[in-house]
Amino acid sequence: MAGAPSDKKRFRSQEWFDNPGNPGMTALYLERYLNYGLTREELQSGKPLIGIAQTGSDLSPCNRHHIELAKRVREGIVAAGGIPFEFPCHPIQETGKRPTASLDRNLAYLSLVEVLYGYPLDGVVLTIGCDKTTPAMLMAAATVNIPAIALSVGPMLNGWHKGKRTGSGTIVWESRQRLSAGEIDYDEFMEIVASSAPSVGYCNTMGTATTMNSLAEALGMQLPGSAAIPAPYRERGQISYETGKRIVGMVHEDLKPSDIMTREAFENAIVINSAIGGSTNAPIHLNAIARHLGVRLDNNDWQTIGHKIPLLVNLQPAGEYLGEDYHHAGGVPAVVAELMKASLLPHPGALTVNGKTMGDNCGKAENLDTKVILPVSDPLKKEAGFINLSGNLFDSAIMKTSVISKEFRDRYLSNPADPEAFEGKAAVFDGPEDYHARIDDPAEAIDEHTILFMRGAGPVGYPGGAEVVNMQPPAYLIKRGIHSLPCVGDGRQSGTSGTPSILNASPEAAAGGGLALLRKGDRVRIDLRKGTADMLVPEDELARRRAALSGNGGYHYPKHQTPWQEIQRGMVDQFSEGMVLKPAVKYQDVAHT
Ligand code: FES
Ligand code: MG
Repeated sequence: MAGAPSDKKRFRSQEWFDNPGNPGMTALYLERYLNYGLTREELQSGKPLIGIAQTGSDLSPCNRHHIELAKRVREGIVAAGGIPFEFPCHPIQETGKRPTASLDRNLAYLSLVEVLYGYPLDGVVLTIGCDKTTPAMLMAAATVNIPAIALSVGPMLNGWHKGKRTGSGTIVWESRQRLSAGEIDYDEFMEIVASSAPSVGYCNTMGTATTMNSLAEALGMQLPGSAAIPAPYRERGQISYETGKRIVGMVHEDLKPSDIMTREAFENAIVINSAIGGSTNAPIHLNAIARHLGVRLDNNDWQTIGHKIPLLVNLQPAGEYLGEDYHHAGGVPAVVAELMKASLLPHPGALTVNGKTMGDNCGKAENLDTKVILPVSDPLKKEAGFINLSGNLFDSAIMKTSVISKEFRDRYLSNPADPEAFEGKAAVFDGPEDYHARIDDPAEAIDEHTILFMRGAGPVGYPGGAEVVNMQPPAYLIKRGIHSLPCVGDGRQSGTSGTPSILNASPEAAAGGGLALLRKGDRVRIDLRKGTADMLVPEDELARRRAALSGNGGYHYPKHQTPWQEIQRGMVDQFSEGMVLKPAVKYQDVAHT
């Protein structure tokens, strides 16, 4: 805490509220904050002002419990000598926002940057949870660079139906197949899916939410052990109080996002992402956060640093368990401890929000359930990280190897002479509507050797990038027992889906990528060991197709529906570059410039 008034640290907020050099402006800034009961003494006492960036609302049920948790955060802030200022953030609900929640990540980012920069805040608590809320907030904290700490809302309790765990999202994909195959009717489908959402909190599977909340802890931006605590547990309220207390300390220490989210922290996060079986949305979001900090990070890093790491966390969709089990087993610290035992955590010395290192926080953590968090010696899968592919279809696309099924391996990867390569003929869909209209049409002649392609689903094409690459096979194949076909696309895939897919293809068709040239029936060859993905079409034919395409004004995508769609389409970067707003990247450390 601060010492005598003379050597007391002067905070940023005092430029607004305690600036004798500019009495007229100070009175104007201060006056309206008194109108709900704050006193002059409080606002001019030199106490740090702490923002609580509130992402919960009725429109965002995954984060709604933050409205409750913020009460404990405020008490923690006051107890540590700060003054809390809670304010609303643009809602981003993964399951509610049309055309896609990811359209809003950069919008929420922009608006939070503006709030953190333009108001008298000395530090901020970022209330993270549902998929895009976490990266939006970390990106904004990165740009502004005032002390910031993340607080996860926590996953929902485990879902149950007839004695079986039902996991968010994963149960939807599974039940849709059963509905298509005629095994269940619509009411049963709805009942099973509803059972997967039994309480407040975010998706209880290892989808993008659990991934990004775990990675916020892996980056050092949350108190250790806090990411996995289920939303309704008492520990969730307790960690909220501790988080409120800690941000005040961080402000006194001037511990900033750029001190914590270093290249070393990102390397740790990539390794931890492989070990937890994290979502393919993680490279998009972490690459974005890194760019806003000026830290070098690209999709090659994800393969080089992450591919060899084993899958340790046995959560759906790659495994069997759910969020409560993950917490009971010890959450992120237990995963880190297992990695450290095998010397697989690259930077145990990376700093975290509590002022200690990742190694100090997690080194001695106990793994309390080895069925849920497996040791490195006996993992769920070896080499479970992402592969970064390139070829004439795209410059970069990510494949999550941890979800490749035995069925898929046997069908596509069983050639002993060339065990990592597969070939198939392309079926090509332009956006999700086109896929739904044609997938079951026998004229498409889709069989077990087909590779399904989705294009027009990237940051420009959709816009924002749709989670539509995980396409299920035609109903007639599912009835024959073929439950998945390889999927490739310039869109994303839900982290809760287990389809073997090649995703986030960059550049996308709408930005002139090779996918725009692909036609139905083309042979495509994918070699996972070499990291290549190519259409086997002669160069001169590709040149003809490219000329024909540009003659038509390029690849066509749906018209803008809102102003933001048009604005973002004009300035958004590709998935491999983090889908950031290109003009935003040059603004770094803005609170200090
Ligand atoms: Fe919000 Fe999954 S839909 S976390
Ligand atoms: Mg999602």
